[in-house]
Parts: sequence; C-alpha cells; structure tokens
Amino acid sequence: MTTTSGATPVWDAETLVDRYAEVRSHTETLAAPLSPEDQTVQSMPDVSPTKWHRAHVTWFFETFVLADHEQGFAPFQDTYWFLFNSYYEAVGPRFSRPQRGVISRPGAHDVGVYRGNVDERMRDLIGSLDGGTLEKVTPTIELGFHHEQQHQELLLMDIKHVLSLNPLQPAYVDRPARAAGDPDPGPLGWVDVEGGLVEIGHDGDGFSFDNELPRHQVWLEPYRLADRLVTNGDWLEFMADGGYRRHELWLSDGWARINAEDWRAPFYWTEVDGVWFEHTLHGTWPVDPSLPVTHVSHYEADAFASWAGKRLPTEAEWEHAVRSDGQGDDVTGNLANTETFHPTAASATGAGDARIRQAYGDCWEWTSSSYLPYPGFHPAAGAIGEYNGKFMSNQMVLRGGCALTPPGHARASYRNFFPPGARWAMSGVRLADGGAPTTGASA
Ligand SMILES: [Fe+2]
Repeated sequence: MTTTSGATPVWDAETLVDRYAEVRSHTETLAAPLSPEDQTVQSMPDVSPTKWHRAHVTWFFETFVLADHEQGFAPFQDTYWFLFNSYYEAVGPRFSRPQRGVISRPGAHDVGVYRGNVDERMRDLIGSLDGGTLEKVTPTIELGFHHEQQHQELLLMDIKHVLSLNPLQPAYVDRPARAAGDPDPGPLGWVDVEGGLVEIGHDGDGFSFDNELPRHQVWLEPYRLADRLVTNGDWLEFMADGGYRRHELWLSDGWARINAEDWRAPFYWTEVDGVWFEHTLHGTWPVDPSLPVTHVSHYEADAFASWAGKRLPTEAEWEHAVRSDGQGDDVTGNLANTETFHPTAASATGAGDARIRQAYGDCWEWTSSSYLPYPGFHPAAGAIGEYNGKFMSNQMVLRGGCALTPPGHARASYRNFFPPGARWAMSGVRLADGGAPTTGASA
C-alpha cells in the first residue's frame, strides 16, 4: 500500500506512461545478460528465478490495475494468476514458493510476450482514463513502480546466489576497472548524537510505503554511531579471534544456527589454501580487507558487535542520527545507479558536510529493532493491505540501502526487513555505542 501523507503527486497521463516505460525497461536491462537457462534456476527456497520476477511484477499490474479498471478485462493466461501470485491470499491460490524453479514453461521468451501484452494494455488504459479515475488509480500504479524496483534489487541478489553455485563461477557483469586497490577507509570514528524526544517515520514529502507511517515520537538516550561500516579486514580479526567459536558472543538462536549449518565466515566466502575468496556479481575474488563486510546475518552482526564491545543501533537511532547529520533529504551513496554491483570502500570523508560515511548504499545495515508496526499503523483493506503489514513477525529491520538498491528506495525512513538468519541479502554492519546501559539477566 502506498501512502503519500502530503499531497498526492500530480501525474498526468503522459508522465505516468513515460515513468511506466522507464521502470519496466530497466527490469529487462537487468535481465539482459542472463540466458533463458540462467533465468530458470531456483538455487534455494528464498531465491526466485529471474523470469519469475519478470512475470510477477507484470502480474502485479495486471491484478491490481488492469483487473479493476480495464473494460472487458480477461487475464492474459488464467494459469499465470496462479503461477505468479507471490503471497496475496485475497487474490486466490498460488504455486508453492520453494518450487518456482520447476516452472520450465512458460519460458523466458514467453514471459517477455506476457510483459509486452500487459505493457500495451497499461499504456492504453492510462491514455483512456478520465481525470478523476486516473487520479484514483495513480497511487496503485505508483506502488507498482516501487514494487517492480524492489524486485529489481531481489533479481540481482537472487542471481548472485544462483551463479555462486555454478562450478564455473560465472560473472553477472565484468568487474569495473579500478585504480590500484580500493582506498583505505581509515580507522572507524564515532558520531555523538544527543538523543532526547525525537520524531521518526516518513515526513510527508513524496512516496513512502505504509510501514514508514505514522510518523511518531521516540525517546532516545544519548548514543554514538560508527562513522563507517564494518570492513572485511575488521571481520577477519573477529574470525581470527575465534568469533565463530565463542558461544559467549552469540544470541542463543544464532549459536544454534551457526553450529547446525557450520557457519564459519560470511555467506559468500570460501577458503582456498589459507586464502579467503568472496563470490561477487563480478565473479570470485580474494577478500579485500578495505571493503565493507557483506552477506552476514543479524546473528553474525550481533555477535561481531558483542566481540567489539559495542552493539547494533536501533532503527530509531539510525534514522535520527542520519537526519541529524544532514542526510535526511540528501541521499547519496553507492546505490544501484552506480552499477558497481558491490559495496565499495568508505571514502575518507562523508558526502558534503556529513560525518556518517556510507549512510546510504553499499550494504543494508542490520539494526537491533524487530520489524513491528509503528504506533497507529493499520494496513489498508483488501489484497493490497497484504503488501507489508502481515510480515511484522520474526523479522529484523535493516536501514540505508545497498549497492543493488534503486536510488528511490534509499531514504531516512525506509524500513527493509529480513529474518535474523538471512544471509543472501546484501547486508552489513554498523556499530553503535552508549545509550541506556544494559542491565538485568534472565534465567
Ligand atoms: Fe512482489
């Protein structure tokens, strides 16, 4: 569900059609380097095949826009409603998520035909609606843009995992030319934040998801936020000090998980003859100590923070610190538009006058906050109300965006969320310190 708590942006039909074409064609650009075979593989239950993403985002426009507003509507294919529904119970039955990889038909080409059909019908529809109806349907179309962009990021995260299991270790794209090594990010510094009674949540300008609202007050004790992300070099120290073997550093669930699944390093790391290598969208390379560590779970992030004698920030601390640092409206960073497809080393200074480096982009930053509704949150009625609200259980919030995130999805109030054991998302770690002392014990 989209909500613009200020005035709904004015979209005329021509602007809407242009924006539609732009968002849709970018998905095809991202899929272009991938063969039909690449696009069919599902390498684990959390990963969806590329062609499924391409079809599902199309299904979204067909289901939530065309079905309600197109004269004489009929689905492109009845079976596609079943195959490409992700999780919307109100829309009807759907195919099993962990088995999306067996959908060999429709093929990648057929999905392209489906996309073309819905694109043509969407263009015709937008051009034919009267002003009042267009205004009414525009928020859903705009939600469809943001939904498709979220899947653009997932498409990249998912194909990274698919390619990682191929023994040939193929690259999604060639590695960009770099100067001799990444710059040294320098020592980790700290940014002090006063705290007090602060406001968090979307502030009313432009698009937001419903989970960023309502804006509300939060009390924060004084705290400090690290001025850069934790690096691979930092992580190697943690590993060398027995980080994955010391139970006292771990949450109980995390300790059980790392032992059950034998986690001894970040998700895409492998050790060959004593040297650590990292799988990336550019192929497999020796671990670069200057780059941010990425593809670690919440459990690992929390254990690292314990080892460092620090903690993870709450989502309110993250949002308030970034706004206080002048980065509320000024969003710059290593996001998907840079086409690095991987985190880069922190520059010596933040953007402009900013003190917090890498606030946006590079890696989604785990927080210590459970993904919960803000006070006064109510999901919308109907199927579209299933977009965010029903996932507010057993997930942790991440902030800031990563190198695969479309720029429109990085803002101070944006809340991403994954289960604490998830590692295939491009997630990293920023430390916090200070605030309320932790006391108490449990039996
Ligand atoms: Fe979706």
